[in-house]
Amino acid sequence: MRIRLAKSNTTFGVAPEQSLLDAALAASLNLPHSCKSGNCGSCRARLLQGEIYYPSGPPLGLSESEVAEGLVLLCQARARSDLSIETFDVTTPERTFIKRLPARIERALPLSHDVIGLCLRLPAAETFRFEAGQYIDIMLSGGRRRSFSVASPPNDSRLLELHVRRVAGGEFSAPLFDESTLSSLLTIEGPLGQFAYRPGTAPMLLVGGGTGLAPLLSILRHVIDNGMERDMRLYWGVRSERDLYAHALLQELACRAVRGGVAQLRYVPVLSEPSPQWRGSRGWVHEAVLQDIHDMEKYDVYAAGPPAMIAAVRREFGLRGVAANRLFFDSFDYAPDALARQPTSAATKS
Ligand SMILES: Cc1cc2nc3c(=O)[nH]c(=O)nc-3n(C[C@H](O)[C@H](O)[C@H](O)COP(=O)(O)OP(=O)(O)OC[C@H]3O[C@@H](n4cnc5c(N)ncnc54)[C@H](O)[C@@H]3O)c2cc1C
Ligand code: FES
Repeated sequence: MRIRLAKSNTTFGVAPEQSLLDAALAASLNLPHSCKSGNCGSCRARLLQGEIYYPSGPPLGLSESEVAEGLVLLCQARARSDLSIETFDVTTPERTFIKRLPARIERALPLSHDVIGLCLRLPAAETFRFEAGQYIDIMLSGGRRRSFSVASPPNDSRLLELHVRRVAGGEFSAPLFDESTLSSLLTIEGPLGQFAYRPGTAPMLLVGGGTGLAPLLSILRHVIDNGMERDMRLYWGVRSERDLYAHALLQELACRAVRGGVAQLRYVPVLSEPSPQWRGSRGWVHEAVLQDIHDMEKYDVYAAGPPAMIAAVRREFGLRGVAANRLFFDSFDYAPDALARQPTSAATKS
């Protein structure tokens, strides 16, 4: 079956049972998406012609009125016939070069009690280009995959740094904490996602939850290392002091920005369950932002982290005047196969 993208008149093939998004990515068409689990709504598109179905039933990321308007979610929809669709990407879908490559674990350093910093070495003969903020998939058996954002900046794209949070029973993350994985070979696919630094002059507001810091760190390093003139505010939300696994690094980055004299970085850690000694911000990270910042409409907003945090940011920041086309987000949902194993869907919007 064939799919036609109406705006660009590009066509690509889709196999039976393959999601429309996977087919587009396989054709190197980086259509907008984030969670790939039917939750975040970022892969919405309008079905102009043809018939689709959802093998797991109507997805959570589409409201009834959106379904009535003819909108579909590309990460969940399968084709029953040839299709014509209209995508809502803020940029024209670009042909990106998504590669599948071997990667060796060169370093695996515990950053905190439940986060490990993984450095993956890519083959010297390969060029791997990504944009600050994008993610890669680590391939498991049977075509299953796990998504992780790149925390390092794009200038050294042969050594990728990831921040992996331990998930109890997690097929990929748990063994990293229990076994020596040094020098193990993995297969990765990427770069993926449209959560990426947008050049410009507007001040930037970066909001991360837990390891949602990773893609934001890539963006911060990219801006500061390249001496770009941007005013940046980072709010990083974690549970308690012991979860601030990159606190010293972020303070150092803020000083480096001051020394460079071009970019500016103000960093605010926010703890939801701090010790009594904590003198900094408390509560949910998005609420700390709303409390501190009253002219939200002037910011380009980048948010990454757990689905509930992203849902709150989209809802609350939108109400405070952040335009949808200036709000970029990456929702760290569970992998679709892990989600399917859950008795009830916990990774839903709040
Ligand atoms: C675009 C994108 C980028 C991401 N980037 C990162 C990143 O940089 N760092 C990072 O640590 N994670 C990131 N994630 C989340 C990560 O991909 C998932 O948590 C993944 O499922 C973990 O794989 P695993 O094999 O360790 O656990 P799985 O085998 O997938 O999970 C085992 C069980 O644990 C539960 N579970 C899975 N994930 C979570 C979770 N996040 N929280 C609570 N329970 C869970 C489920 O019940 C699941 O059945 C990202 C996700 C997306 C979509
Ligand atoms: S709903 Fe499809 S990518 Fe999130």
